[in-house]
Amino acid sequence: MPVQQSIRFILDDQVVELDFQQSGQYTPVTTVLNYLRSLPGHKGVKEGCGQGDCGACTVVLAEPDGRGGLSYKAVNSCLIFLPMIHGKQLITVENINEEDKDHHPVLHPVQLALVQHDGTQCGYCTPGMVASMFALYKNHRNPAKEVVEDALSGNLCRCTGYRSIVDAALDACKVKDNDHFSRNKEQVIEKLDALYRNTETIVIQTGNHTYLKPFTMTEALKLRRENPDALMITGATDVALLKTKKHLHLPKILDLSGLDELKLILEDHHRIVIGAGTTMEEIREYCISRLPALAGILHVFGSLQIRNMATMGGNLMSASPIGDTLPLLIALHAKVRLLGNNKQRDLPVEDFITGYRQTDIHADELPALILIPKPKKNVIIRSYKLSKRTDLDISTVSACFRMVLTKENKVREIDIVYGGMADRPKRAAAAELVLKDELWSRALVERAANQLEKAFQPLSDARAAADTRMIMARNLLLKFWLETGRDDLNEKKETD
Ligand SMILES: Cc1cc2nc3c(=O)[nH]c(=O)nc-3n(C[C@H](O)[C@H](O)[C@H](O)COP(=O)(O)OP(=O)(O)OC[C@H]3O[C@@H](n4cnc5c(N)ncnc54)[C@H](O)[C@@H]3O)c2cc1C
Ligand code: FES
Ligand code: FES
Repeated sequence: MPVQQSIRFILDDQVVELDFQQSGQYTPVTTVLNYLRSLPGHKGVKEGCGQGDCGACTVVLAEPDGRGGLSYKAVNSCLIFLPMIHGKQLITVENINEEDKDHHPVLHPVQLALVQHDGTQCGYCTPGMVASMFALYKNHRNPAKEVVEDALSGNLCRCTGYRSIVDAALDACKVKDNDHFSRNKEQVIEKLDALYRNTETIVIQTGNHTYLKPFTMTEALKLRRENPDALMITGATDVALLKTKKHLHLPKILDLSGLDELKLILEDHHRIVIGAGTTMEEIREYCISRLPALAGILHVFGSLQIRNMATMGGNLMSASPIGDTLPLLIALHAKVRLLGNNKQRDLPVEDFITGYRQTDIHADELPALILIPKPKKNVIIRSYKLSKRTDLDISTVSACFRMVLTKENKVREIDIVYGGMADRPKRAAAAELVLKDELWSRALVERAANQLEKAFQPLSDARAAADTRMIMARNLLLKFWLETGRDDLNEKKETD
């Protein structure tokens, strides 16, 4: 197998070739944050939490968008292993501005706006804030305030307060995008295309680390078969925490983020098909008009930096009881397509998740696609997430309800699935049974809610006590009824 042992990316407008064996300083699980901070002139990027929660480490990754332009994504450099940036442009706060002909620095519009609006005090959050604002500037002209707030929800500022920062971002994004990045776009695309043209598998071996990064599905399946002990990653937003938070040794990694075959969203008359390597932000944008319940859940999924890296495949494979997309995938009867060597299996997501962070994946298989049946017009779907904060917080309890009513307002089909109530996202079968074929009424919903105690024995933890979780689950079902049911119509139907 032809392999490459180094990675290449653009930093400060230069192509950097990093050979891990020669450098001796870095391993393949060195984070981009630690790499940057080891370089002269790149201490702008800061470490706050080291786990994706504060945004102080935000940088921007640019790559060809396939439409002749570049996509710019704000990401948390503390959660990205170095080989994940192969073939991309890494943009830090140090090279956002430019110089005039006398070599005096000229602030970028986002930096200038931050100064003019007094958007910085101690300055610790500022480089990360500038990186997020820069990505916003590259992606939006005159964005709505909610778009700005969403783009900044992954950046904590302890001292300035957000009003001046949000105002600065709104102002900066009014001006025409005419920075040195847009002027040099063609050259950057050319350089990145040249880096990517060589798609030989990257194999990095340093001391006690092995890192495998294939670029085709065939090669990925082969590596999976030969290395069943390798820890798979795509966005690494879960896995990186094993290193940065738990300080575990990760001896062997199979990085699937280079597989374009896993980055897709398609649809036909019957279903929406999502590649396992598609990011949550791409899915959110696609689903706003096509599957609003999923877009709604993704709107409160992590932060934009997390959504720019986190994938549907990673969420599914982490099989967490509080994985936010899982209740919806189960309620909508979604399936996962698993590819193995010369075989393919389609499994309902409900059966695929077999226990606490357990899945029914075979040692030679990879999840390739998530197949979501397209809801017909008469299907009512609602997803809810309860957490201590709206933004950048994981669920305490979540739920997805899917329902079809008859003309007589009776429940023809009902799916009730909760997250955070058991060892895995789980269906409340007894409650569904109470509702099935009955009139969709408040009294009935309260009877169904009484069944939840039989179905679930939730845990008490730092987020909520068991009885609080039970009340939350009950109230979510009642909320669903309040949003979709009307007893006055039932009374009318009965008198008719
Ligand atoms: C700050 C922060 C906020 C978060 N907020 C949320 C939230 O609001 N809601 C939520 O549900 N989650 C949240 N998460 C968790 C995480 O972002 C999600 O679970 C995400 O979907 C994981 O995707 P990933 O591609 O990053 O997975 P990775 O970290 O790469 O992997 C996760 C798991 O999936 C496996 N895996 C990954 N890719 C593949 C593949 N292609 N084939 C086979 N196995 C694979 C890995 O081995 C691992 O077990 C958050 C994480 C952080 C750090
Ligand atoms: S250091 Fe806090 S998000 Fe990276
Ligand atoms: S300026 Fe001090 S944390 Fe934001």
